[in-house]
Amino acid sequence: MSNKVVGILGGGQLGRMLGASASLLNIPIIVLDVGDDSPAKQILNNPSSKNLSHIDGSFKDPSFILQLAKKVDILTVEIEHVDVNALRKVRETHPHVEIHPSPETIGIIQDKYRQKLHLKEHLGGSSAPLGPFRSVDATREDIERAVEELGLPLMLKRRTLAYDGRGNYVLRKSDPPAIADAIQFLCPIGAGKDELYAEKWVPFIKELAVMVVRGRDGKVTSYPAVETVHRDNICHLVWAPFRTTSVEQDPGIRANAERIAQEAIKSFTGAGVFGVELFLLPSGEILINEIAPRPHNSGHYTIEACESSQYDNHLRAILGLPLGSTKMKVGAAGMVNILGSDGSEPSQPNEISFSPDAIIDKLTHVALSTPGAMPHLYGKAQSRKGRKMGHVTVVGVSDAEVRERMAGLLQALAEFERQPDSKTPPTPASLRPHLLGQSHPHPLISIIMGSDSDLPTMVPGAHILQKHFPSVPFEVTLVSAHRTPLRLAAFAKGAGERGVKVIIAGAGGAAHLPGMVASMTGLPVIGVPVDSKSVAGGGGGLGGVDAMWSILQMPRGIPVATVAINNSTNAALLAVRILSAGNPDLVREMEAYQRGLGEEVDKKIGTLGEIGWGNYGKK
Ligand SMILES: *[C@@H]1O[C@H](CO)[C@@H](O)[C@H](O)[C@H]1NC(C)=O
Ligand SMILES: *[C@@H]1O[C@H](CO)[C@@H](O)[C@H](O)[C@H]1NC(C)=O
Repeated sequence: MSNKVVGILGGGQLGRMLGASASLLNIPIIVLDVGDDSPAKQILNNPSSKNLSHIDGSFKDPSFILQLAKKVDILTVEIEHVDVNALRKVRETHPHVEIHPSPETIGIIQDKYRQKLHLKEHLGGSSAPLGPFRSVDATREDIERAVEELGLPLMLKRRTLAYDGRGNYVLRKSDPPAIADAIQFLCPIGAGKDELYAEKWVPFIKELAVMVVRGRDGKVTSYPAVETVHRDNICHLVWAPFRTTSVEQDPGIRANAERIAQEAIKSFTGAGVFGVELFLLPSGEILINEIAPRPHNSGHYTIEACESSQYDNHLRAILGLPLGSTKMKVGAAGMVNILGSDGSEPSQPNEISFSPDAIIDKLTHVALSTPGAMPHLYGKAQSRKGRKMGHVTVVGVSDAEVRERMAGLLQALAEFERQPDSKTPPTPASLRPHLLGQSHPHPLISIIMGSDSDLPTMVPGAHILQKHFPSVPFEVTLVSAHRTPLRLAAFAKGAGERGVKVIIAGAGGAAHLPGMVASMTGLPVIGVPVDSKSVAGGGGGLGGVDAMWSILQMPRGIPVATVAINNSTNAALLAVRILSAGNPDLVREMEAYQRGLGEEVDKKIGTLGEIGWGNYGKK
């Protein structure tokens, strides 16, 4: 057992997952939370002989916080709504106890208005990546002034004690009854004068999140930015890593989100993991929404998908250990939260029931029979509608595989929710089955050509992928080096961020497309020389030899693989072989395809033997 003891304020699911990481290093954890049965306490059974027993009390109560401080070397939090003054006091009475993140950081972050002011001050004032905001009293007059200044709809938020959307209110009208409703919702137990603040409505197209790790030396590193999807203000899905979804979208969004998140966390003090929630605007601009001074729901996926999880790294950071790698070790990952329902009995009793709440039981069973899926149940005693009861992480080699695997879980959820009076959210386009003859929304191979007249030459390659390699999603699109040079640049620079791994470019005549694409991306490019005699206004009937030389003779440093004239089939097969590096399943699929070719030849050998060479090919 390590000689350092860690105390956690809060014993919920984050504490439980932190505890699981701590157990791997045999680091003792003492939990402060009410009762003996909180999710974290359930899995952390300390030797009572060493005075390591958990504390039954509120993490908001100064006397219990002091009691915890007496037993530990390092204090941390799994929830920010703690008593910061008590933590400050600990620093005086127990100077040897380190507190991470610092009480000052927790104090700033737990008050969302102070959090915004702090970020504004440290991230460039009016140029900080924040939407306009202002403090507002919970009075009709002041809310009216805020509407005048920031417009409608107006986001009204409680400054403190708000999470999972509780404490947020969208004001859509500014008449007195609407404002009265807002005040009633936000301040049900009487309006405190300065409990609220207002944010200008941000017309975001997506929500992103970045988990940042801050070491004791103040150095920061981050996990890849992810896309988060919320339902009723609660995190529903996470897709990792964040991908741009169109050629037109700025490929720098992910790196920019990570940079902004890291800059924000540099401005605080103390160590640990921080969750940074961000908005993506239609222009590609990124704004900070909110920060959490602890591991975060949008980082659960790191347990299965990254070389070290957010929990591993939170512990390493607060203990001053070397930080673990934040890289993903799988191609892609997804996470769906399991929220409690109204607590009905499982409809089809399973041999093992995981919960009396039917949806929890059902999703767990579906996850257990989904490859790459890992269910996590938090052990909360009571399931309530909307309460976070668990989650499922799904990993896979590609975005397409993860989404396909996730589809079964979302389907089960949708079936469960299809009550007569409830609306089922439509399946997102990216989860619908991939239609034959259509580009896949999450391609690994991109087949491009300069003109639709090249399509007949490029289609055989698409057919071979569709027929023999169904696990390889691909797209087919037009990009012309000469006629749409800007689209060409956007395509090439953004392909990697869209998740594309290999590009096949067909071109005739001067055939600049493959080489130009290769010069603007690090991805492998395979050129298909197209016999362009049919190309309008070009070609000159050189039979494709022109394009072949052009593609072959690339300058040093920018290689393009070249196949035979018109041979998109071999280009597709070569692309699969490139993808199969590090993917033994795909190597086997390729070998199966090759066996098929061998069988064709065997058949011909048989026929030749049967009818004799003199008659072969005569009929
Ligand atoms: C290449 O394909 C085009 C379109 O199918 C065809 O017209 C042309 O003859 C082919 N050329 C060669 C050399 O195979
Ligand atoms: C590609 O090349 C192979 C070998 O020359 C040939 O059998 C095949 O028909 C070619 N495919 C196309 C589309 O030209």
